[in-house]
Amino acid sequence: MANQGILTIAYLVAGVLFIRSLGGLSKQETAFGGNTSGMLGMGLAVAVTVIGWISTDEGTIAMPSPTGLGLLAGAIVIGAGIGGALARRVEMTGMPELVAVLHSFVGLAAVLVGISSYLAPPAGDAAHPDEAARIVHLVELWIGVAVGAITFTGSIIAWAKLRGSLSGKPLLLPGRHLLNALAALAILGLCVPFVMAPAAADGGAFGPGMIYLLVMTALASLIGVHLVMAIGGADMPVVVSLLNSYSGWAAASAGFVLSNDLLIVTGALVGASGTILSIIMCRAMNRSIWNVVFGGFGTEGGAPAAPVAGAPQGEVLELSVADVAAKLKAARSVIIVPGYGMAVARAQSAVADIAKKLKKLNVEVRFAIHPVAGRLPGHMNVLLAEAGVPYDTVLEMDEINKDFPRTDVVLVIGANDIVNPGALDDKSSPIYGMPVLEVWKSSLVVVLKRGKGAGYAGIENPLFFHAGTRMLYGDAKKSMDALAGSI
Ligand code: TAP
Repeated sequence: MANQGILTIAYLVAGVLFIRSLGGLSKQETAFGGNTSGMLGMGLAVAVTVIGWISTDEGTIAMPSPTGLGLLAGAIVIGAGIGGALARRVEMTGMPELVAVLHSFVGLAAVLVGISSYLAPPAGDAAHPDEAARIVHLVELWIGVAVGAITFTGSIIAWAKLRGSLSGKPLLLPGRHLLNALAALAILGLCVPFVMAPAAADGGAFGPGMIYLLVMTALASLIGVHLVMAIGGADMPVVVSLLNSYSGWAAASAGFVLSNDLLIVTGALVGASGTILSIIMCRAMNRSIWNVVFGGFGTEGGAPAAPVAGAPQGEVLELSVADVAAKLKAARSVIIVPGYGMAVARAQSAVADIAKKLKKLNVEVRFAIHPVAGRLPGHMNVLLAEAGVPYDTVLEMDEINKDFPRTDVVLVIGANDIVNPGALDDKSSPIYGMPVLEVWKSSLVVVLKRGKGAGYAGIENPLFFHAGTRMLYGDAKKSMDALAGSI
């Protein structure tokens, strides 16, 4: 195609925009620019791919058949419609579920691309006249479909677990690692007869090759279900990011099948960044990445979501809104720890308001963010940014943990697991080993929550019985509004 040079340059520009997007998204200050770069890159990629599809070898535009154009336009309209509607409707707290569904679409797309490419091998430079190229193409296709199927079913299970349709308890079948290994070996082994089967173009479309491909798709789908079913509720944040990385590798494999360089680059970017994020999150939760990938590998399994017996006992002391307001006004330094409950209550604006009022009274106010606070990476950062909290007052756990001993008041707003001291000293705790915000080291901790509800991991929190802890019961938004009115 005469336009190949322009196409390559446009793909390169789109690739650079995607890299800029990832770089921008790594900091709150640059996140808007990062998002804009990503949108520009995707717009360019779609436009150039469509133009590449309808242009001829001589570089002129030749309209494809009305059916082809109709299918293309229909796919774009339906895809954009579903994406737009879902994104508009989704609550911030439902974001992980949406992300899981979107990953499943990528996985399904990779499976469909692989199967359709087998049924109707692409023409032009993507055709494979010689035997070696044909084998390489078929192996790429096999890998793409396998990764896609694992991503598709794994993401559906993650979605069901996140929305509570399936229990967060890990399903630990006896011999599960052996089952996974046997299925993986079968997938590898079946690739040989698949490659040797008559080509689809030679009348083998629904012959043995297709049967091998479909059997492998079923096996890979089962692996996807089994892998995510074996992962415990407390590991779900890592699973979401792990599936993000799988979806990237699935897209990259589809890129190889379609000989589309941009899809390969973009898929690899998503795959690599998802893998890095998974490793960072595993470190933050003190879990081994292999333990999460294979589900309870070498341990009793992921954390159960059910409440545990033998909960800590003791007296729980309360404070009134007026008392908390007085303590805050008298403090020199205050740290606010937001958690999932702040998101549910939509209390972020009231929280930002209180921080502003305290600053006017010369109280130092900072925010402490745990890497897995809320229900998705960066959940609290997004909410606080939306409420206009200055970025320089929002600190990560590692930056602020050492400051709790010299802090007068800590406000824990709808957070539970991320401030659970049992994670550090109770070996029987399902979250033992996860680094937490050490709020109990401050002079006074005020915990805002509605009642005795457990957090995501479903366990009791000894912090609530600590001598320096006081509870302020009620919906976080109502409590924060009342507090703001008293300061
Ligand atoms: P959680 O441990 O889930 O605790 C949230 C607390 O908020 C609950 O104890 C609940 O108690 C309270 N709450 C709920 N609604 C409230 C409201 N309207 N007003 C006031 N309080 C309310 O949250 P966390 O401390 O942020 O920890 C996050 C957990 O989620 C971790 O276990 C993490 O592993 C998991 N997780 C994280 C992610 C990511 S990537 N961040 C993804 C999935 C899961 P009451 O019912 O008594 O009010």
